[in-house]
Amino acid sequence: MGQYYIGLMSGTSLDGVDIAIVDFNNDTPVVMSTRFRTYPNELFLALKSACREPNINLDDLGRLDAELGCFYAQCIQQSLGDAKLNSQDIIAIGSHGQTIQHSPNSHPVHSLQIGDANRIAENTGITVIADFRRRDIAAGGQGAPLVPAFHQAVFQSDEESRAIVNIGGISNVTFLSKHHDEAIIGFDCGPGNTLMDQWCQQHFDIPYDAAGKLSKNATVNSALLDSLLNDAYFSKAPPKSTGPEYFNLNWLQTHLDKHPTSTMDTLSTLCELTASCIAQSVMQLAPVDRTLICGGGVHNDYFQKRLNALANSPVETTGAYGVDPDWVEAVAFAWLAKQTMEGKAGNIPSVTGAKRAVILGAIYPSLSRKG
Ligand SMILES: Nc1ncnc2c1ncn2[C@@H]1O[C@H](COP(=O)(O)OP(=O)(O)O)[C@@H](O)[C@H]1O
Ligand SMILES: [Mg+2]
Repeated sequence: MGQYYIGLMSGTSLDGVDIAIVDFNNDTPVVMSTRFRTYPNELFLALKSACREPNINLDDLGRLDAELGCFYAQCIQQSLGDAKLNSQDIIAIGSHGQTIQHSPNSHPVHSLQIGDANRIAENTGITVIADFRRRDIAAGGQGAPLVPAFHQAVFQSDEESRAIVNIGGISNVTFLSKHHDEAIIGFDCGPGNTLMDQWCQQHFDIPYDAAGKLSKNATVNSALLDSLLNDAYFSKAPPKSTGPEYFNLNWLQTHLDKHPTSTMDTLSTLCELTASCIAQSVMQLAPVDRTLICGGGVHNDYFQKRLNALANSPVETTGAYGVDPDWVEAVAFAWLAKQTMEGKAGNIPSVTGAKRAVILGAIYPSLSRKG
């Protein structure tokens, strides 16, 4: 009998939801089924305006929260079918939700994820863990990044020190020393795909630069790149986290005003910005023997080539190290749900800045599970 959990991840790219059904019965997680569902266009547009335009109306926000919860529940039903499992086989779902606002520098710190977990529990008959970030924030942390504890559990090695880098809308890094008593360091590096994606959507009417083909055929404006990299976020000491609330097209425009650049060359410069801020983050940590990358950015061949050129250690995907790079984050939220169900902490205080390790999330129970 497996120990099945479901992880649901919707990142800042707003591309949709990743669903992974995972069996934790063994030392390493076994992924039973995966599914990616893009957001239906109406939902995408509503989420985009909720995230990117301030002053959302509360009625719209309430509706969006409910609709998203129902959509997540539908996605889970499909995944159960894929894996030939039923709701009673699953111990719990870990649902990250869609971040509407992440404000680590506000006083008090706050972060809001939506996608009504009550509806997920009610419509699937499975216990749901959601609202993972706010307990860490209540304990004095930034609520992000939360994946480092999972990275530690799965990717730490005795033989080599590793950096794990996730390239979603935002990019984040976890440093795992081969000396296991050393503190885990992890933080958001800065933009991942979000600026490139938004630029492609605005200027080329495409969701993203597939395989980096457009960036590859344009030229980096080094004056613009230097200006972008001069932003104080990049040199700030961790703990630190960020989001598209900060790294967005308005932020880019303030730099473009000083360094006018063609649309194609701007895209190439944004690709170089992502590769540079990740390479700098990895190099500033401590000596790293290997960098393992995951997240949608692994499909951007040109970005990967640039990261390889800038990094001072070999760069590979997590694929050969136990988890397919497309599913690391979804598997991480399944694992975080398991931590919560077992009464174990999910945050790492040296990463988020929290005063203590805490059990994350709220539990939305299902009464229907047997055994
Ligand atoms: N074939 C591809 N070529 C280039 N970039 C891609 C490709 N496939 C996905 N991506 C990038 O990955 C992003 C999605 O990555 P993901 O890890 O899901 O981010 P998030 O967790 O923020 O949702 C897309 O928005 C896009 O930028
Ligand atoms: Mg995604």
